[in-house]
Amino acid sequence: MTAIWTVNKSIFKKNITQVAGNSPVMAVVKNNAYNFGLDFAIKTFLESGVETFSTTSLREAIKIRQLAPEVVIFLMNPSIEFDTLKEWDIQMTLPSLSFYHQYKNELSGIKVHLEYENLLHRSGFKTFDEMKQVIKENSDLPKEKQLDITGIWTHFGYADEFDVSEYEIEKEAWLTGLNDILKQYDFQFIHAQNSASFMRDELFEHHTHARLGIALYGCRPYSSLPKGSVKQSLTLSANVIQCRELKQGESIGYSFSYTADKDMTIAVVDIGYGDGLLRTRSKHDCMINGTRYQIKALMMSHLLVEVDKTVKPQDTVVLYSKDMRVDEYTFKGVGANSEQLSALNHCTLERKIIE
Ligand SMILES: Cc1ncc(COP(=O)(O)O)c(C=O)c1O
Repeated sequence: MTAIWTVNKSIFKKNITQVAGNSPVMAVVKNNAYNFGLDFAIKTFLESGVETFSTTSLREAIKIRQLAPEVVIFLMNPSIEFDTLKEWDIQMTLPSLSFYHQYKNELSGIKVHLEYENLLHRSGFKTFDEMKQVIKENSDLPKEKQLDITGIWTHFGYADEFDVSEYEIEKEAWLTGLNDILKQYDFQFIHAQNSASFMRDELFEHHTHARLGIALYGCRPYSSLPKGSVKQSLTLSANVIQCRELKQGESIGYSFSYTADKDMTIAVVDIGYGDGLLRTRSKHDCMINGTRYQIKALMMSHLLVEVDKTVKPQDTVVLYSKDMRVDEYTFKGVGANSEQLSALNHCTLERKIIE
């Protein structure tokens, strides 16, 4: 018996269709497709009609190209491996005016999307005027020396936040600048919205794609969304190995992992932090035979769970499922959706895709 990471592919696909609706999607597949696996994700997105992808890693971008020769691939981080970008037909962010000036010669023939910095302050041009300056300087070059400005984009830093006004501020700054620049220039790709922004506002006017991550992987980006709006295809399950009777005051696990405050039955379960279960997640519950039980301690390869007499060795212990959603634990403060997904260890968990 081992702990198993299972994805139901037909639910994964239904969720893509439901989340995207009629809007074109650029699927964010960074960090091994939020740990779902690039091979699985690219293949399944393609089957669902998604043909535009973005990642932060050039290595992943190349892997996407190997998996999908025809798709559009957008690298959200800048790279100076210009020959590789050309060889694999990867479009890249243009992250600043200084980057443009530093690599003006090497950038010729590279497809870029101009990035607007906005309130995230992680990367991007400070102003739309700077972007206009690049467009102008580029068009003054002979054709064979020009870079190919195919897109314009930004990333909102506050779309997942409801208690502050920053999202409205960054949205306004972007849409105002974009509408102005569109009076003079056309772009093949215009994208700004992550899952939260898209689900709050639908696709903005003029935008060619919603650039979605977490909702495509089955998690609600914010808690006021109804559960039915995003379907979770992932199940993480483990097994009861033994049930132990503990007297009040007895301890179990290394160095008093847990000390019983009353006589109780503890199930020892074959999953731990070595399998990627977050310590914060172990402050909550798991499900055995349809009932929720409190987790008492987390070790590298084991969990200790307070159970009742109905629980038996070999019973399945569910940590995540459609009834124990990753986003439920996000909203309880366990950590970001992506943090819980990314931590899961595919070297130790058995991986199963149900077709
Ligand atoms: C630049 C960029 N765009 C889009 C996304 C997707 O965001 P989400 O997973 O919230 O949809 C991310 C994720 O971190 C990102 O870094």
